[in-house]
This record gives sequence, structure tokens and C-alpha cells, in this order.
Amino acid sequence: MGRRIGIYFGTDTGRTRRIAKLIAQKLGALVGDLAEAPLNINRVTVDDFLARDVLILGAPTYGDGELPGLATGLAQESWAEFLPRLEGRDMRHQTVALFGLGDQDKYGGEFVDALILLHGAVVACGARVVGFWPTDGYSFKASQALIDGRFVGLALDQINQPQLSEARIDAWLQQLAGELVK
Ligand SMILES: Cc1cc2nc3c(=O)[nH]c(=O)nc-3n(C[C@H](O)[C@H](O)[C@H](O)COP(=O)(O)O)c2cc1C
Repeated sequence: MGRRIGIYFGTDTGRTRRIAKLIAQKLGALVGDLAEAPLNINRVTVDDFLARDVLILGAPTYGDGELPGLATGLAQESWAEFLPRLEGRDMRHQTVALFGLGDQDKYGGEFVDALILLHGAVVACGARVVGFWPTDGYSFKASQALIDGRFVGLALDQINQPQLSEARIDAWLQQLAGELVK
């Protein structure tokens, strides 16, 4: 990897923050202090966001398959407010990996849909997205977050499959390590 890695998350009830911390800790073991401490996206400026070589971005899905934000009932700004600020900015120098939290049982028709909204926003700015993830081992009806049958980032379900998350994160980080050097 060898480059500065920003880890930014949105959250309402804290699960995505805890996962971001776990990812940072595990990534730190792989790449040392290149992995920065995770920050809530509502504390990040666009200039800081654009200054990282690699971004690891995490979001839960809220509302009706939406990004977290004021419109889905959060008390603070989140991804829904941040992403529009990226419009027209240049991310061609950046590689992005995404992770999303959802509930495949209760929201099985829109599982981790917010991932595709993150994906669309950064791809529109020219970023390269790595870390697509297979659907094996999940049980859901539908997700907008699939391209060619794979999630556009790591899908985690802390409600129904919390016991699987750590192994998924480990495997995903190994995969990223390979994809980031390309
Ligand atoms: C009102 C509400 C709507 C939700 N909508 C979705 C959804 O559309 N798709 C999904 O996969 N999960 C959905 N979820 C599940 C959350 O994404 C999940 O609980 C997640 O772990 C929350 O993360 P956080 O603790 O970081 O806020 C919803 C949860 C709530 C309370």
C-alpha cells in the first residue's frame, strides 16, 4: 500500500463507527501509521478528503435505502450532506474502498443500498473503486449496491450476522492490500 489512508464514516447509532475503528486497527497492523484514525464525515472538509491517496469510506443505510443524514432523521449532518459538496471535484488521483452496514432481514429489499450512492458519487469524480465483495453467505431479497453480481464494497450486518464481520473484514483487507498495489 504505502500511501496515506483516510478512514471516514457516517453513523447514527454507532455501529459503523465501531467497525471503522476495527478496520483502522487491523489496517494499522498491516500498514502501520499510514492508516489514520477514523473520523466522522461530518468533521471532514472537502479539501482534507481530497488530500488522501486512499480513502476507506463507511456508511449505514437508513430511510428507504438512503444515505444517513438529516433527511433520514439523524441529529447531525452525515454523508447525505457531504456528498453533494464533492460534485465537480477531481478524485482521479484517489483510490476508494467502501464498506456498508445494513440489516438483511428487516430491510432485505434494500440491503446496504447506501453503498451504491457512495460509489456513484466518487466514480462521478473520477475515483478508482476497489474492494468489491461477493454476495455469498448473505440472505437478502434485493440490493441496489450490486454491480455484476457483487457488492460495490464490503457489506456487514451487525444485526443478524455480527459474528461473521471480523473474518469478513480480515479477508477484505487482504483483498485490498492486493488491489491497492496495482
Ligand atoms: C429507520 C431505519 C431504516 C433502515 N433502513 C435500512 C435499509 O434501507 N437498508 C439496510 O440494509 N439497512 C437499513 N437499516 C439498518 C441500519 O443500516 C443498521 O442498523 C446499521 O447497523 C446502523 O448503523 P449505525 O449504528 O452506524 O447507525 C435501517 C435502520 C433503521 C433504524
